Amino acid sequence: MTDATGRRARATFPDVPGLAFGGDYNPEQWPRETWREDVRLMQEAGVTLVSVGIFSWGLIEIREGEFDFGWLDEVLDLLHDGGISVDLGTPTASPPAWFFAAHPESRVQTAEGTRLGFGSRGMVSPSSPAYREAIVRIATALAERYAHHPAVVMWHVHNEYGAPVSEDHSPASNDAFRAWLRERYGSLDALNDAWGTAFWGQHYEEWEHISTPAATPTIANPAQKLDFHRFSDHQLRACFVAERDGIRRHSDLPVTTNFMANQHGGCDLWEWAQLVDVVSDDHYLVAADPHPEIGLAIAADLTRSVAGGAPWMLMEHSTSGINWQPTGVAKRPGEMARNSLAHVAHGADAVMFFQWRASRRGAEKFHSAMLPHAGTDSRVWREVVQLGADVAALAEVRGSRVEADVAVLWDYESFWAQDLEWRPVDDLDHGERVRAFYERLRADGLTVDFALPGHDLSRYPLVVAPAQYMLRARDAENLTRYVAGGGTLVVSSFSAVVDENDGVHPGGFLSPLRDALGVDVEEYLPLARGTSADIVWSDGSVSPADHWQEHLRLAGAEVRATYAAGGGAGLPAVTRGSHGAGHGWYVSTRLSADALSGVFRGAYADAGITPRPRDEGLEIVRRRSDAASYTFAINHADHDREIAIAGTDLLSGETAGSFAVPAGSVRVIRHDLT
Ligand code: GAL
Repeated sequence: MTDATGRRARATFPDVPGLAFGGDYNPEQWPRETWREDVRLMQEAGVTLVSVGIFSWGLIEIREGEFDFGWLDEVLDLLHDGGISVDLGTPTASPPAWFFAAHPESRVQTAEGTRLGFGSRGMVSPSSPAYREAIVRIATALAERYAHHPAVVMWHVHNEYGAPVSEDHSPASNDAFRAWLRERYGSLDALNDAWGTAFWGQHYEEWEHISTPAATPTIANPAQKLDFHRFSDHQLRACFVAERDGIRRHSDLPVTTNFMANQHGGCDLWEWAQLVDVVSDDHYLVAADPHPEIGLAIAADLTRSVAGGAPWMLMEHSTSGINWQPTGVAKRPGEMARNSLAHVAHGADAVMFFQWRASRRGAEKFHSAMLPHAGTDSRVWREVVQLGADVAALAEVRGSRVEADVAVLWDYESFWAQDLEWRPVDDLDHGERVRAFYERLRADGLTVDFALPGHDLSRYPLVVAPAQYMLRARDAENLTRYVAGGGTLVVSSFSAVVDENDGVHPGGFLSPLRDALGVDVEEYLPLARGTSADIVWSDGSVSPADHWQEHLRLAGAEVRATYAAGGGAGLPAVTRGSHGAGHGWYVSTRLSADALSGVFRGAYADAGITPRPRDEGLEIVRRRSDAASYTFAINHADHDREIAIAGTDLLSGETAGSFAVPAGSVRVIRHDLT
């Protein structure tokens, strides 16, 4: 493959047949005899790709600069002989004991000043110069040795950047933070202005006096904290880039690092996705969630969106229970396959697990695996083997794209800013709001792409902003242009409040969207904890609302619902504005997914969208290639469903004009387009 300039273009997916199937493989935890059995059982399960070496730094570079590749050579050869490809890890999430002994200053320092010790993982400062040097050495050494090994098809740098800690207050971090701030602001005047240091007497005259926001008597400067969050993410990315570039000196194979899209935390995945050749994600069901399949769908849609719609890899999920949540609920029969195929429905071209063989020792021995402690005479193993066959049957789906109907805004920086302290109430939860709006769209049969407020949104008839607390002026202009151009925008409460430095917009709350929405906010009126206040729609119907109200000031919008009680009694609660050729809806209180139907009925009409309400529990997602469309029908409910789509079910081979979707099962119906 060459690009327009004649150079070899880097592949954006590992060279394996069809959809990749496999998981993390940690042979270093097992005697050599087990390796042969592993390869045989991998073949039995249809495994095509395993991630190797993610935590084996100390066994590869046994002393600084002294490498022992013997065992890894042997493992890679065995895998290759068995027809299994390798996603080769760089083991930098867990530096060896010798590294910390030689460089104790590289340990992470907490905000309270505690240095974190060896004997876990992820305990190293991304700003440590010694660490930076060491990761480039090991990544480059691995690439040099294995770039042309026939088993190796891609690189897996590090593991889950930002986990378990993303922030570090060590002296190295302080130095790097100051350098980053100099670069960002250029002058102390600009920094003092952006951080609002006139408040509480925090003015700076010397760069040297600035530190990371370590423990303070009461809350620290919010703009400083927000910048520290950005800086911390930047430092992690710099570590990734250093390793990636070391690898690229020797190898053209695609490079990835595994994201955690369902954690709204440390890493801005829009930025990260620009740096990898292929996006990959780890997803673990939240056991306490009564509908974990919705959290899964959100994470998968987000992963696809940051990948720009390109196929991505599900790098890790679990076959059954996990050991790091309060209760590691075991998956019910069929649930693993539903989870795996739901990821594929939402755009994954790989189904991988943590991990191949359950560990006998160490922190994760109670975590499920493809090959459980119980061995092959087990439900999990039988389901894994069946799933391997199902994934193989979907080979032709590879490369097809998900068709989305609407965009929902997902802005990490805004989430980080909203999570700072001392908001009007302390439990304004962006994740909860995104989920409520997403659930409404999903119940209406619509597929969601996520986007940033600065993206070109013109291809979406409807854009929803469930939690856009921070909104840059230029992004507000983009949204306003989108509406003027004929788009329909739905915005939820406590949005467009601050600029990129967590400073309230000069025109007041919501003012940057005043033109687009025809309304702004005079005052926030949070409801006392535990109270609620209904809203009354213009047709007289009533919906429950709770938690939050706002005193809206109309600037051209029509009122669609008013508050029936609370501090806002009689005031507008939901409005619809018109701007140019489009419309802007504003929802100033907390509505459940059900109550939001009152908003979306109108917004769909404005956007020209016909909702396709589905039977409860039946998820329908469509992928499309030039030749065919693939309708994934996933029945999460405990009763049978029916779908009226003609085609061939790739999983059963059946061709029909409509299909039963039995309780808990999945259909993938191919429909030819030519
Ligand atoms: C992931 C991690 C794996 C393993 C897994 C267990 O977050 O990348 O190494 O710890 O969790 O669920």
